[in-house]
Amino acid sequence: MDRIVVRGGRRLSGVIPISGAKNAALPLMAAALLTEGPLVLTNAPDLADIATMAALLRTLGLTVEHDKAARRITLRGSARDVTAPYDIVRKMRASILVLGPLVARHGRARVSLPGGCAIGTRPVDLHLKGLEALGATIALDGGYIEAAAPKGLTGARIVFPKVSVGATENLLMAATLARGRTELVNAAREPEIGDLAECLNEMGARIGGIGTDRLVIEGVDSLGPAEHPIIPDRIEAGTYACAVAITGGEAVLKGARMADLGAVPRTLREAGVELSELRDGVRVRRPNGLIGTDVMTEPFPGFATDMQAQFMALMCVAEGASMITETIFENRFMHVPELMRMGARINYHGASAIVRGVPKLSGAPVMATDLRASVSLILAALAAEGQTTVSRVYHLDRGYEAIERKLAAVGADIERLRD
Ligand code: EPZ
Repeated sequence: MDRIVVRGGRRLSGVIPISGAKNAALPLMAAALLTEGPLVLTNAPDLADIATMAALLRTLGLTVEHDKAARRITLRGSARDVTAPYDIVRKMRASILVLGPLVARHGRARVSLPGGCAIGTRPVDLHLKGLEALGATIALDGGYIEAAAPKGLTGARIVFPKVSVGATENLLMAATLARGRTELVNAAREPEIGDLAECLNEMGARIGGIGTDRLVIEGVDSLGPAEHPIIPDRIEAGTYACAVAITGGEAVLKGARMADLGAVPRTLREAGVELSELRDGVRVRRPNGLIGTDVMTEPFPGFATDMQAQFMALMCVAEGASMITETIFENRFMHVPELMRMGARINYHGASAIVRGVPKLSGAPVMATDLRASVSLILAALAAEGQTTVSRVYHLDRGYEAIERKLAAVGADIERLRD
């Protein structure tokens, strides 16, 4: 397995290009199941999760071409099979996003039930209840969700008891081909959902309320081809903002959009980081010391749970204490013991962690159990004295395109050791 070696202490400076968003690309690819196509997605990132979604869609019968040099994914054809197998779903939970489109267009789907996950139990009950409200019957058989709507889906008013990105996306896609009107109330408002809705409308769907927590969908008989640019990855942008800040550097995050970052810019400013919006990006600079700042994760436009670990790494070297509360996932502090191995002072209990800043972290061999936890260790390593080796790099490859190359290009001493 590959490892990443970082020798800390270098200030980052220069330009970091931000790739297309993983969490926008995955539902957009699943949306290809709603049409004969072609659906052409531009600004596509080259990531392990994208390859996994492409493999799943090919298993279902679609033709998927990923032109990596052109950053373009072309999807065409219709599903010949409606089974999303365990072997793929267990690798990537976002596979559940094929459920809504398959039932809506083919009247049937068989999708392996995703199991638990390193960051929490992550049930899919809201996806299933929503599909039932649209008229599908749902059964569980041998670890698989069996969904059926032989006469098609029918629009309904669905009030989510809890904000869920994935359930909003699944039901939004399903509702585009349902008979009549669907209302999704208390819908998630993450920018990736707006991007999906825009693309579906380009394919011929009729979705209103984009960007709000109430999406209204008037069902149509079929969807057609479209070409759609994937939005820049706000979590990648936020991560590199923290990387620049932790080294006291200055850089431009090319392509990043400030509005998509929700509460992250406000929180970073409170912590002593300067951010300014440019025509095609965001400039980040950390001129003075970092200041301990409290943060609580929330659905968009609140502070993203996908930025919690990276912000914690930053707070490890801030002046004073900061309280970090995770409200979205019940087990998303797996980076804490690893950060502590690098000299961080963190106490945590339940959903909250108190970080007491230290003047210096020190390099160590570390590893992590999920994507954002892994990248928080890279950030800590950039600021640490000495050498850090981060193993289980496959987590990083799921969501950060060419991370070692992007960081080395702005001055980090970082390399990948291949086994
Ligand atoms: C998406 O996951 C993202 N993944 C996650 O990013 C992100 O952390 C999460 O949204 C929250 O922003 C993709 O977009 C592919 P949820 P998702 O449904 O859709 C509970 C990353 O690092 N819930 O919004 O699975 C759930 O347990 C990943 O890139 C139910 O109870 O998240 C959680 O507590 C990790 N029942 C909360 O809702 C359900 O049916 C929010 O989850 C569904 C969710």
